[in-house]
Amino acid sequence: MSAADFSQAKRDRRKLSMVTCYDYSFARLLSKSTVDGILVGDSAAMVVHGHNSTLSASVDLMRLHTEAVVRGAGGKFVVTDMPFLSYRKGVAAALDSAHVLINAGAQALKLEGVDGHEDVIERLTQSGVPVMGHLGLQPQSVHASGYRVQGRSSETGAEIRRQARVLQELGAFAVVLECIPAPLAHEITAEVNIPTIGIGAGSGCDGQILVLQDLLGMNIDFQPKFVRPFLDGAGSVIGAVANFDAAVKAGSFPALEQSY
Ligand code: KIV
Repeated sequence: MSAADFSQAKRDRRKLSMVTCYDYSFARLLSKSTVDGILVGDSAAMVVHGHNSTLSASVDLMRLHTEAVVRGAGGKFVVTDMPFLSYRKGVAAALDSAHVLINAGAQALKLEGVDGHEDVIERLTQSGVPVMGHLGLQPQSVHASGYRVQGRSSETGAEIRRQARVLQELGAFAVVLECIPAPLAHEITAEVNIPTIGIGAGSGCDGQILVLQDLLGMNIDFQPKFVRPFLDGAGSVIGAVANFDAAVKAGSFPALEQSY
């Protein structure tokens, strides 16, 4: 897949699937899957590093995670998040940050919102860097908007629709729609000719994305309404480690087969 293939998928009415990934081991597994794209999300700050928001993700952190994922991804399409404020300090600084992440192996970059950094999006796309937008709930704006469903009123819904059109005009190749009402996501999907990738935005989007650990059922603290775990990952991991612990304590591990 490439950014161009995402556009083609929309024209062909073929649904797109994406998952987040932050490390080499999971990237290796994803390289064997049929998923269309991998997002090295700034949610790494929360999922991997235990912070309570994405705000502490830095360009250097995203570079390290991107390099690890690209090493394992076997050529899968990799998009990396530009972290908090890295595209808000002027075009030159944003291009420097983008350069680091593209050099790390990302094939496209995702930026939250559009107002105030239109020039950055335009310059990136004109420079051959595919840009994915991100509208609706924008975790990097948690202090301004909180973690809540966006676009419920006709005014805020119209605003998100406008921003989606602007992203298309600026040359974005796709847009993530996070936590907005399903009918609004459906309208935006019909209105723009770039693929919409939903998370908590209903089934009317051109594709869906989930945090890998959420879809694997590994998150024991909190499960948003929009998540469906496709595996009891937490149960499997905790159970496997308990089995290991029991085998060690019973003296049955290691057995002859695991000994030299
Ligand atoms: O960082 C992330 O995980 C994301 C997804 C929620 C789309 O941006």
